[in-house]
Amino acid sequence: MIKIKFISILLFVSILSNAALAQNAEDIIKYRMNIMKALGNHISIIAANLKGKVSIPEDILPHSKSMLLTLSAINIDKLFPENTAPNDILKTKALDTIWSEKELFKKTLIDSIDKTKKLVLAAESGINQDIAKGLGSLGKTCGSCHDKFRKKKN
Ligand code: HEC
Repeated sequence: MIKIKFISILLFVSILSNAALAQNAEDIIKYRMNIMKALGNHISIIAANLKGKVSIPEDILPHSKSMLLTLSAINIDKLFPENTAPNDILKTKALDTIWSEKELFKKTLIDSIDKTKKLVLAAESGINQDIAKGLGSLGKTCGSCHDKFRKKKN
């Protein structure tokens, strides 16, 4: 009886670890695209306020902070594992440079995080000019990562 229990626990554990392995490349790619889209949405929300398209400026701080949390939470090894590099089957705009120049990729992410910290400070001050400057320099870091590590077209 005890033996059966033990075996069934073993079985359960191995099913769990298979499930972890089964996280397939496509799912991770979709997942990281969602994280990127979230960043894009936060930027659009802040920009809409700065441009005066809407006047809900109290949203600027929470969306700046959300971006800081989101970018800081990115674990490059988990979000960009080797098996998600571009090939004939996978639909990804990631470039091989992510893996061949990983240190630079990491540095570029850190640069983005630093600029987001500045944006949060500006958002806390509530001075629109500073927020616009902060958003502009953050946008440049998103762009410089995309220039080097993202394919222009699928
Ligand atoms: C360290 C590099 C890096 C940084 C920093 C970065 N991105 Fe990206 N981003 C990527 C890569 C790589 C892809 C392509 C992912 C893929 O196709 O698998 C991408 C894709 C995207 C996409 C397209 C998602 C889709 O559905 O195809 C958007 C939108 C985006 N990023 C927005 C942003 C914004 C906004 C920022 C800055 C706040 C940012 N990114 C910062 C590397 C980065």
